[in-house]
Amino acid sequence: MREQVLEDLIKLTGYSDKDRETLKEFSAQTTGLVDEFVKGFYDTLFAYEPTAVVFEENERQEREKTLTGWLLTVLNGDINDDFFKNLWIVGLLHIKRGVPNSYMLGMVSLVQQLFLTKCLESFEKSDAERLFGAFKRLMDVVAGIIAEGYYLSYVEALSNVAGIKKEVVDRMINIEIDAMIKVERGG
Ligand code: HEM
Repeated sequence: MREQVLEDLIKLTGYSDKDRETLKEFSAQTTGLVDEFVKGFYDTLFAYEPTAVVFEENERQEREKTLTGWLLTVLNGDINDDFFKNLWIVGLLHIKRGVPNSYMLGMVSLVQQLFLTKCLESFEKSDAERLFGAFKRLMDVVAGIIAEGYYLSYVEALSNVAGIKKEVVDRMINIEIDAMIKVERGG
């Protein structure tokens, strides 16, 4: 299931090893931007009440440290199977900490926009396009895994708690979804 999610995202975004090599190629210039990105990331989350309340008091420093390390891995192009595997756990952590995918996707968008601005400022057009493309495809795969990890883990946890087999849950959900579609369409 997890392997399939990764395979689908790689196929559909067009992410490839070439993107990893592109990130490596420009890492000397891009890794210097990490502190600015991390600051922009947490300034945004702490300036907005619904996202600020996710964090415990005095947690910011620790979160900044782990995000810095994670972004350095991305910008150094240190992308391997473990990198993708670990993202499944992020979905679980986000469920536990009350971070819906709307928050996560909003921040993926912000990081991509910050990165695009830097690429356009610092590189000529063809390099900027190549580097931004590599970063965007990777971050889109990242977002897809976190989102699917969140959703699939949530459903799995629910069916485990209820003690119902996944196939039965799927059938019950289908019936319920048909009823919900009917209601949304006005009966
Ligand atoms: C660009 C989007 C995001 C990415 C790529 C991402 C990635 C990660 C990663 C790699 C971890 C595990 C490492 C760590 O503990 O830092 C993590 C955990 C966490 N993230 Fe995210 N995240 C994103 C968005 C968000 C947002 C928007 C919030 C809050 C509003 C958030 C809150 C958290 C929290 C609270 C943890 C759990 C820390 C713990 O209890 O161990 N994340 N995330």
